[in-house]
Amino acid sequence: MDGPIILKTTHEGKVKEYFVMPEGEKHTDLGIIKLDTLKDMQPGDTISSHIGVGFTIQKPRSPDFFKHAKRTGAPMMPKDIGVIISNTGLCSTDSVLDAGTGSGILAIYLGMIAKKVVSYEIREEFVDVARKNIALANLTNVEIRNGDIVEEIGKLDEKFDIITLDTIHSAQVVPFVPDAIYPGGFLAVYSPFFEQTKEVRQAIEKTNYTEVSTIETMEREISFTERGTRPSTARVGHTGFITLARY
Ligand SMILES: C[S@@+](CC[C@H](N)C(=O)[O-])C[C@H]1O[C@@H](n2cnc3c(N)ncnc32)[C@H](O)[C@@H]1O
Repeated sequence: MDGPIILKTTHEGKVKEYFVMPEGEKHTDLGIIKLDTLKDMQPGDTISSHIGVGFTIQKPRSPDFFKHAKRTGAPMMPKDIGVIISNTGLCSTDSVLDAGTGSGILAIYLGMIAKKVVSYEIREEFVDVARKNIALANLTNVEIRNGDIVEEIGKLDEKFDIITLDTIHSAQVVPFVPDAIYPGGFLAVYSPFFEQTKEVRQAIEKTNYTEVSTIETMEREISFTERGTRPSTARVGHTGFITLARY
């Protein structure tokens, strides 16, 4: 295998996992693992540390990049990414315009499904990290561009099936959406606050959309213990609102 690899083992009833490249050594509390040998191995194979602890090899998928990729801007949570993917019907023939890239986590999920993703990030140092994350995910269909989406969207001479926005400037981008989106395409805007959501809704109302909705998704993990089964008391609180508009 090449590219990043997940090594997993269960120790004293707990799953331990490491996100590694197939080079050098990994020092863990369960022994040293020689990573070079991973190049000749396949997902499902087992590699042993120098003290004989076996680790199963897995190929990383999008949720692994959410967990392990380097972070800059707060990444979107998988539950919210799921809302975007399911409500827009994102598919393998779609071109997506995304901003801001942040850590590139949403861009990775989108790139694993869509034909092409173009993602704008205003901060140069974030662009570098996001490009590395995209390269790690082995995605050649995701292009990260350094720029302010408010200024850049009006200059684009291409159209997109889906536009995803996760920046404090989303409402300022909305007026340009009709010229950048194919008929029938979806805009999906993630906003952490009611105030930003309202600004986005007001901006959408001034455009020529056909359907609009705003959703908040609550996720509850169910905990299974000897005492009983119930929603976990370790809450995942509010993350953001997703506004969807079709053009
Ligand atoms: C919350 S993060 C996005 C996280 C991203 N969706 C992910 O899943 O990793 C917001 C990002 O938008 C960027 N940003 C803010 N204003 C922008 C603008 N006008 N154009 C492009 N990027 C912008 C910020 O620098 C930041 O990295």
